[in-house]
Amino acid sequence: MPRFLAAKPDADLIRLPWNVPLEAWPAQHLVALPRGISRHVVRFIQVGDDILAAKEILEEVAVHEYRQLTELRRLGVPAVEPVGVVLGRVDRDGSPLDPILLTRHLPFSLPYRALFYSGVKLDTVNRLLDAMVVLFARLHLIGFYWGDVSLSNILFRRDAGEFAAYLVDAETGELHPKLTKGQRAHDLQIARTNLYGEFSDLEAGGMLDQSLDPQWLVDTIEERYESLWAELTGVEEFSDAEMYRLEGRVRRLNALGFDVAEIDVSTSADGRTIRMQPKVVESGHHARRLMRLTGLDAEEHQARRLLNDMDTFRAKLPGNLSESVAAHKWLMEVFEPAITRIPRHLESKRDPAQFFHELLDYRWYQSQRENREVSLDEAAHGYIADVLTQLPDEQMGNIDPVGQELYNKFDPSQGFIEEDDEEAPYDPWEDGANDPDLPLAMGFDIEALRAKAAQQQERGK
Ligand SMILES: Nc1ncnc2c1ncn2[C@@H]1O[C@H](COP(=O)(O)OP(=O)(O)O)[C@@H](O)[C@H]1O
Ligand SMILES: [Mg+2]
Repeated sequence: MPRFLAAKPDADLIRLPWNVPLEAWPAQHLVALPRGISRHVVRFIQVGDDILAAKEILEEVAVHEYRQLTELRRLGVPAVEPVGVVLGRVDRDGSPLDPILLTRHLPFSLPYRALFYSGVKLDTVNRLLDAMVVLFARLHLIGFYWGDVSLSNILFRRDAGEFAAYLVDAETGELHPKLTKGQRAHDLQIARTNLYGEFSDLEAGGMLDQSLDPQWLVDTIEERYESLWAELTGVEEFSDAEMYRLEGRVRRLNALGFDVAEIDVSTSADGRTIRMQPKVVESGHHARRLMRLTGLDAEEHQARRLLNDMDTFRAKLPGNLSESVAAHKWLMEVFEPAITRIPRHLESKRDPAQFFHELLDYRWYQSQRENREVSLDEAAHGYIADVLTQLPDEQMGNIDPVGQELYNKFDPSQGFIEEDDEEAPYDPWEDGANDPDLPLAMGFDIEALRAKAAQQQERGK
């Protein structure tokens, strides 16, 4: 009899064919979804209404990974959700089988192989790289040494016009009270090696946009990480006449999506020099505010967009409503009615927060085009008809419209199969990237990095 180590063992789970090696599981239990490259046998399985990822793996490692993932979730870092470990498996002849680690399939997650596709815009790549860097920094802030950073171990989800990155493989991870500089550097070194290899593989397979160079990609990841880390943890010194810099730092961190729980400020003996260093920074500044006000669970940039809309709504209301009353009103009168407009059969295209973000974009474009105020209700009608129906399902990890199309057209022996020029589908994700009015990227000096990237690419030509 197998044993289940789980927070909530489920009857459907117990009935699965645990006495069969995962590789030989009957198709009726399996779900075909895109997957990254893995060392172990990994399959997606259907359990009741849930889809789980099952990984056959050695016992010590399975239990270790289960516990690491549980800790990471508890500490609020984006990681896949552990469901349990199945131990003590034996096959029909009584020979032992390796345990299976179960995690919940991350809905709306996008596989990286289709994200660096040929034709991808540099803007999109920048956003993916930023998301990865934010994930490393968040892990390092809580003292997590990953030990196996790689594209296959990261999942991406849309986050308004940006991306959010999730950790998927915690097998080699170690949680420490605090990481030393050496540990961080080592983790980064592993990232460099793995990522360089993966980007080079994509390049060799014709799956990497020609303007992207593996060496540049790993260099820029490291630079971005270092600049974000300096902003999050660096010491700043200034004169007593520049006290505003204290608030400036906190504001910049908030703009990056981090809250400062503890900041260390000291004054020199003569009182002329102030030294400050953030000691405890927590990510999810906007996501937490949104959760507190509305109970909605969203990614960081989605939360920022929703909060902006809520703040605008509040400013237009007569009387001086408190933030929490206005938030409730916004939820009931703006957000919920928009979401309930999504027809059932289209619900798997976008999660609600992403839908709302894209709807706001759509309304903005429509108002610009038609030079008039467009109501959210009217925009929802248009967005659902013009855009949502055209998009591939993403709940199951299908890829973005452009990527999906290119992915389908890719034939390893021939490269991309060209078709007649069609008008490009409306892609709110790309569109949003070009709109200067939309809340942009991570606050660290992304423009400078972009200019540098463009220069380097120019020089490389
Ligand atoms: N919970 C999950 N949700 C979505 N995809 C997953 C999940 N767990 C695993 N995968 C997919 O399976 C691949 C392999 O899983 P991983 O844990 O990295 O295995 P390995 O330890 O063998 O490298 C990942 O790259 C990812 O694409
Ligand atoms: Mg892996």
